[in-house]
Amino acid sequence: MDSIKPLDKLRLRKQKAQLGGGEKRIAEQHEKGKLTARERIALLVDPDSFEEFDLFVRHQCHNFGMENTVFDGDGVVTGSATINGRVVYLFAQDFTVFGGSLSKTYAEKICKIMDMALKNGCPLIGLNDSGGARIQEGVDALAGYAEIFWRNVMASGVIPQISAILGPCAGGAVYSPAITDFVFMEKHNSYMFVTGPKVVKTVLNETVTTEHLGGAQIHASKSGVAHFMTDSEEETLLLIKKLLSYIPNNNMEDPPVLPSGDPISRLIPELDEVIPENPTKPYDILDVIYPIMDDGEFLQVMGNFAQNIVVGFGRLNGYSVGVVANQPKVLAGVLDIDASIKAARFVRFCDAFNIPLVVFEDVPGFLPGTSQEHNGIIRNGAKLLYAFAEATVPKITVIIRKAYGGAYCVMNSRHMRADLVYAWPTAEIAVMGPKSAVEVIFRKEVKASDNPKQVLNEREEEYRDLFANPYRAAERGYIDDIIEPATTRFRLVRALEMLANKKDTIPPRKHGNIPL
Ligand code: HXC
Repeated sequence: MDSIKPLDKLRLRKQKAQLGGGEKRIAEQHEKGKLTARERIALLVDPDSFEEFDLFVRHQCHNFGMENTVFDGDGVVTGSATINGRVVYLFAQDFTVFGGSLSKTYAEKICKIMDMALKNGCPLIGLNDSGGARIQEGVDALAGYAEIFWRNVMASGVIPQISAILGPCAGGAVYSPAITDFVFMEKHNSYMFVTGPKVVKTVLNETVTTEHLGGAQIHASKSGVAHFMTDSEEETLLLIKKLLSYIPNNNMEDPPVLPSGDPISRLIPELDEVIPENPTKPYDILDVIYPIMDDGEFLQVMGNFAQNIVVGFGRLNGYSVGVVANQPKVLAGVLDIDASIKAARFVRFCDAFNIPLVVFEDVPGFLPGTSQEHNGIIRNGAKLLYAFAEATVPKITVIIRKAYGGAYCVMNSRHMRADLVYAWPTAEIAVMGPKSAVEVIFRKEVKASDNPKQVLNEREEEYRDLFANPYRAAERGYIDDIIEPATTRFRLVRALEMLANKKDTIPPRKHGNIPL
């Protein structure tokens, strides 16, 4: 009788396991334009760095004849690897095995690497491509999901958690990515929803496509669920690497420093001209951000959602910073519900992971109207205020044009404990814009006048001289200096140096009660 040597047996079994659901299923996956779990991992991590765990784990289900169909690994590839030399823990759902559906043992594999990531203080990356709970396993699969969710919450703010959605992600399964810090969605094959089009039709008699219900475009621009939308799986995996370069391994470490040859004292003369003479004219805030950052590089987060505010990562003298900036090009840079939520979550991420905040401010106020009020701009706008107030990382604000009303207070003002506040000479720090202000305080005088237009103009001019400038705030010490725009990069680098050893605390408590 032929006996297979132990080593050959191991090799054979590993080879078979690495094929997941088998060659036919792999070919089907490729036909859909998707990579396999292992191909994805290979693209994401440093060559030969992947250490796989639990390759031999099999499901334990005996319902519906499942005992006759078993696959080593059971539909998810888990382990640890390095990315640019840094250790990460990761899982990649394997659609070729039972549609990547989650069994009890599959969930245990994921939980194991989540526990290891947390214990060892390393980022956790999940590559999602799954038909959801393995239907044959019933409540065991649900229990598995809930165990994952609990760990996502425990790890929140301790290690960075990143999710890529590269196929289906439906039902309660969406809540694990939702808790993670960053969600990437590939544009062509991914979708996320709590209930799919069929249920929508049955319950609401609404006809909707998968894509319109929960495709990448929707989540990146409308729902705010996805932080990044990509054109391909390759782009997704590259972008994850890029994102990691700005963030630390855990909340006790500082982000990686990547010095560049970009001189810290580089002047940017075009910033002296970037603000239009007419204060109501828009410009692109990205024309301010890009040239200030090292090598003109800036990674925008949620670039398609609430475009009236810009958030993202850049570097100054090699040090990672989180940028929050009003975007005058969209809705005049006004703060609304979506912008407040977007920026608040970003600020909280940066604060949790020791990333200093740099704010560029040009905000005419909060967006008025019934839609905003009825949907809770009060509760939601307060989130941004809360996030800035509780952040203890170095916080720097540059007021470049408007800083009006409540939005002045909210946008990392001195009073929210910004460490350093600078203003450009074009700054206007006031309760409201000159026109609106004059209409309120000189209403009676205007009404009584024979020449209301002239009175309005004169009073507006007077108000503008008094308040629509940075000097009133500077006289009171609310801003630390009025700077020449061209020197902004240098001043920010110096500010970061000054604040590098900042230690600050907030009163001890179980947790605050941010207005959710
Ligand atoms: C078991 C599953 C499965 C599942 C897919 N498969 N989803 N097996 N449990 N949830 C199997 C299919 O039976 C099929 O096996 C193989 O995977 C590939 O699936 P296809 O349907 O051929 O693939 P495709 O056409 O690409 O469609 C993918 C899909 C579809 C849209 C995901 O499979 C689907 O609708 N699946 C069910 C989704 C679902 O309702 N899941 C439960 C959601 S509830 P064979 O052998 O036939 O080829 C949930 C609750 C979580 O997840 C709650 C957490 C708190």
